[in-house]
Amino acid sequence: MKDKIKKIIKKKNKQKILCLTSYSKNIAEILDRFVDIILVGDSLGSVLYNYNSTRKVLLRNMIEHSKSVRMGIRKSLMVVDMPFQTYRTKNEALSNAKKLMKITKCDAVKLEGGKKIINIVDYLIKNKIPVMGHIGILPQSVKGKFRFKGKNKSDKKKLISDAKLLEERGVFSIVLECIESSTSMAITNSLKIPTIGIGSSSNCDGQVLVTDDMIGLNPNSFRFVKKYGNVKKYIESSVKKFRSDVLNKKFPTKKYSFVY
Ligand code: KIV
Repeated sequence: MKDKIKKIIKKKNKQKILCLTSYSKNIAEILDRFVDIILVGDSLGSVLYNYNSTRKVLLRNMIEHSKSVRMGIRKSLMVVDMPFQTYRTKNEALSNAKKLMKITKCDAVKLEGGKKIINIVDYLIKNKIPVMGHIGILPQSVKGKFRFKGKNKSDKKKLISDAKLLEERGVFSIVLECIESSTSMAITNSLKIPTIGIGSSSNCDGQVLVTDDMIGLNPNSFRFVKKYGNVKKYIESSVKKFRSDVLNKKFPTKKYSFVY
């Protein structure tokens, strides 16, 4: 197991783990100084391409964005989502995961699902592909509205069992997406590996958010997203100043021109 992954597992019960998404070098460069994990999430489908589902994201989209992200990372663990229909069989999963890792030089891949995909997860790990799990809401499987998970006994039992199964097969951590708070706690307490929550309360070993959501760049908002900034306003004000300067012939001055 890579040292970077061991370091993240060791943080369980000691220090919270920080994870944010990035789809490009410039954002990754900023995040890298402050987080443990940078995730190239297939959320890029809705955030950047306006898709109504992450199902439309292709492997080549993930590869191109990941290549950019890689250039911005020096220390964080880089995890890349395997998009919809790229891990339907063991061989398909292995060939695509190898391709992703070889071209993008990422450290690990993330797959959505528990028991249903366990043989695939198992096969990847046996073939030395580090895997992050993802349970709870699975955007690649959801049709229609997203509803939070783990609110009744049987749902809770299933989520705990999925998480344990994933741990047994060797995933190094699991994203818990929109899972009810006491269920998140039960899952987190039943595992030796860390859980990374999104909309799953503080009862997780770490937290992840979609960066564009939390910096106020993406107009869509979910109940579980805290807005830590308003980058959209900042961009707007810079663009307004540029517009005014150009229209009023204040830019470019000599300082910004080549004068002989
Ligand atoms: O695609 C993504 O950004 C994700 C996070 C929401 C965990 O999977």
